[in-house]
Amino acid sequence: MEKDSRIPVHVSMIMDGNGRWARARGQERVFGHKKGAESVRACLEAAIEAGVKYLSVYAFSEENWNRPRQEVDFLMKLMADSISDEMESLMKNGVRFRVLGNRARLSPDLLEAISSLEAMTRDNGTIDLIVFLSYSGRWDISQAARRFAQHCIECPEEAAKLLDENEPVDMGSYLVTAGIPDPDLIIRTSGEKRLSNYLLWQGAYSELVFVDKLWPDFRRDDFFDALAEYSSRDRRYGKVK
Ligand code: IPE
Ligand code: IPE
Ligand code: MG
Repeated sequence: MEKDSRIPVHVSMIMDGNGRWARARGQERVFGHKKGAESVRACLEAAIEAGVKYLSVYAFSEENWNRPRQEVDFLMKLMADSISDEMESLMKNGVRFRVLGNRARLSPDLLEAISSLEAMTRDNGTIDLIVFLSYSGRWDISQAARRFAQHCIECPEEAAKLLDENEPVDMGSYLVTAGIPDPDLIIRTSGEKRLSNYLLWQGAYSELVFVDKLWPDFRRDDFFDALAEYSSRDRRYGKVK
């Protein structure tokens, strides 16, 4: 039991360093993105084996739309290709697939592919694979604020309670991650030590593990190393132990 309690329920990964990985091999940046997709598969298998219930990945930030058009197009196509390539294996392994982010910016074709895989895997229960696409923490908090305001307008009878400063605001229910436990562990590869606008609200008490390896090199053993690092952490949540 003690061992199980040290397995994080939700592991999240900031997959960084694809461009540098490719450049170091004299290749175009997009080659690194393609290779990086293999790391997602390896980590998903490791997460299932370890008993992790939610694995999420930061695949594309709102800020990443500012990259050169060709790279953005490649990444969107890679997402669509991965959906059709992985469909069978996700079903076989009981993976529930979900995409969270600003869908208004995604193409109708990609949206269609995402929605059909989400529908197909809805009843799977081994693990949730959540892909944050066109996501940023500040965007999430902004859309939550709009939904909260909308709720107050649409339900005036509840508004007084919602706006009562003595009542806690259930922010989590307005965020796109509603119903998903906050990440216990956030791993970032490539040696960068920042959140880059990821899960700003949800990551309040996440354990952070920064790894020097570039994302395409991050595989099964590295995932287990990160879990081992997590299990050695003392989570205090501001209390005295
Ligand atoms: C992470 O790798 C993938 C995305 C952000 C889409 P990068 O593309 O950021 O690679 P580096 O950090 O430039 O090496
Ligand atoms: C963070 O990586 C976003 C994703 C991994 C999707 P970036 O490469 O975009 O972050 P910065 O620019 O180094 O902060
Ligand atoms: Mg990067």
